[in-house]
Amino acid sequence: MEQSVKPASSLPLNPHIAALPPYNAGMNIAMARALSGRQDIARLASNENPDGCSPAVMAALASSSFEPWRYADPACTALRAALGERLAIDPGLIVAGNGSEEMIAAISRAVLVPGASVVTTVPSFGLHEIEPLAMGADVVKIAMTPDMGFDLAALETAIAAEPRIVFISSPWNPVGPGLDHSSLQRLIGAVQPGTLLVLDEAYFEFADPGAPDGIEVLRDSGIDHVVLRTFSKAYGLAGLRVGYAVCSDLELARVISAAKTPFNVNAAAQIAAIAALADEGWMKASAGRVRAE
Ligand SMILES: Cc1ncc(COP(=O)(O)O)c(C=O)c1O
Repeated sequence: MEQSVKPASSLPLNPHIAALPPYNAGMNIAMARALSGRQDIARLASNENPDGCSPAVMAALASSSFEPWRYADPACTALRAALGERLAIDPGLIVAGNGSEEMIAAISRAVLVPGASVVTTVPSFGLHEIEPLAMGADVVKIAMTPDMGFDLAALETAIAAEPRIVFISSPWNPVGPGLDHSSLQRLIGAVQPGTLLVLDEAYFEFADPGAPDGIEVLRDSGIDHVVLRTFSKAYGLAGLRVGYAVCSDLELARVISAAKTPFNVNAAAQIAAIAALADEGWMKASAGRVRAE
């Protein structure tokens, strides 16, 4: 007998969450194959790496250092140390996340209160809007220019109004262009104390040669900032879920860390990310092939 399912809840739900627009995760490849009757389908919408991942990742996951029965290190100590060495920054400034998307949520939880204002672009990565909305923030969205570039003047004006957070991705998903040095400096110049600039560099490894490195540029900027990076794209670990936030100070990193779930990055993901980071050659070759295509 079929169970009768209640369509609505009589519970008073959090109105900010209840009103959220859905995140569009796109269609998975199994469904696309079933619907189209074709096997030769490339799933472009999620920007997965067509090369897969480094064989060193598969070897690390098959090694005895992977112990699925144990809780993973909640602080991702080894991964953060490896990242700190690679990026020449204090690991205390790094927070690792269950994908960089978790860091977008944690930053929003750490910084926003209902009624706070957030600036982002449109189109943009959906969570730059959804996570602030979940915190009850008001989101101002700056449209791209007709030639599909950043509207720097409009962004400067919006940032001058002193929002609590500015979310910008560079290279820009889904439009493509990245901020060049002078554009990034213009945005940095517009940021006032009390505003956090979040530069989402999920596609950093695919940027044009000579493009600014947000971690390096922002480190010297003096403004409150977070740079987001991920293992999902160039390193091909989208299914394992590892990303990270590089914060401008230790207190910000501590509070963002407090806003994440404790065992957020699972054991397989931590081992895989360390192995992927060590095989920089594979990542660079793959990113080069994707750029060439
Ligand atoms: C701009 C941008 N930021 C963040 C993410 C989230 O990536 P992940 O959570 O897999 O690290 C994506 C994923 O598509 C993205 O396009």
